Amino acid sequence: MAEGAVLLHGFFRDIETELIADLRAIVKAAPFRHMVTPGGHMMSVAMTNCGSKGWVTDQGGYRYDAIDPDSGRPWPAMPASFRDLAARAAEQSGFHHFAPQACLINRYRPRAKMSLHQDRDELDLGAPIVSVSLGLPATFLFGGLARNDKTQKFRLEHGDIAVWGGPARLAYHGIAPLADGEHPVMGPQRINLTFRKVQ
Ligand code: SIN
Ligand code: FE2
Repeated sequence: MAEGAVLLHGFFRDIETELIADLRAIVKAAPFRHMVTPGGHMMSVAMTNCGSKGWVTDQGGYRYDAIDPDSGRPWPAMPASFRDLAARAAEQSGFHHFAPQACLINRYRPRAKMSLHQDRDELDLGAPIVSVSLGLPATFLFGGLARNDKTQKFRLEHGDIAVWGGPARLAYHGIAPLADGEHPVMGPQRINLTFRKVQ
């Protein structure tokens, strides 16, 4: 996609069944919820997390927290299927020994979107972001290091993984409003797994 940014197509086919079963178990333990931005807006994307840290936003700001604020318990552990997939995708993209603590899980129903933003709440900017797509296709907007830089558009489909790090680590990115549809495996939604090394 750019220097330091790679798009891998059809990457998780070999472990799809395990990945989806593990995803279902996480969502059962820590259901999707619509979080509120520091500015007071409810996000159209519903979120949950797994791993030793989870990304949360509320009126107080953005942060990583070991505790799910809805349940008061730690986030579900990151399954081996998730961890191994993320490490394999990073390795394939030239980022070795990727060991994320956090996996943010985003659920997009039709019309949900994510505005252009940088992932910059992590202390370790040496590690890449690994972002796995399941379900309905989406348009990924991938820009530069400044908000106003021109964005390129990439189609993200079930099985695709985007990896960005190094010179692209702080690239602006977002998701255009999801189109209606029904995915044969995932139904009328898109799920995104975003792996981050937080510290
Ligand atoms: C994100 O930037 O957190 C989500 C990207 C995506 O849904 O593909
Ligand atoms: Fe992001």
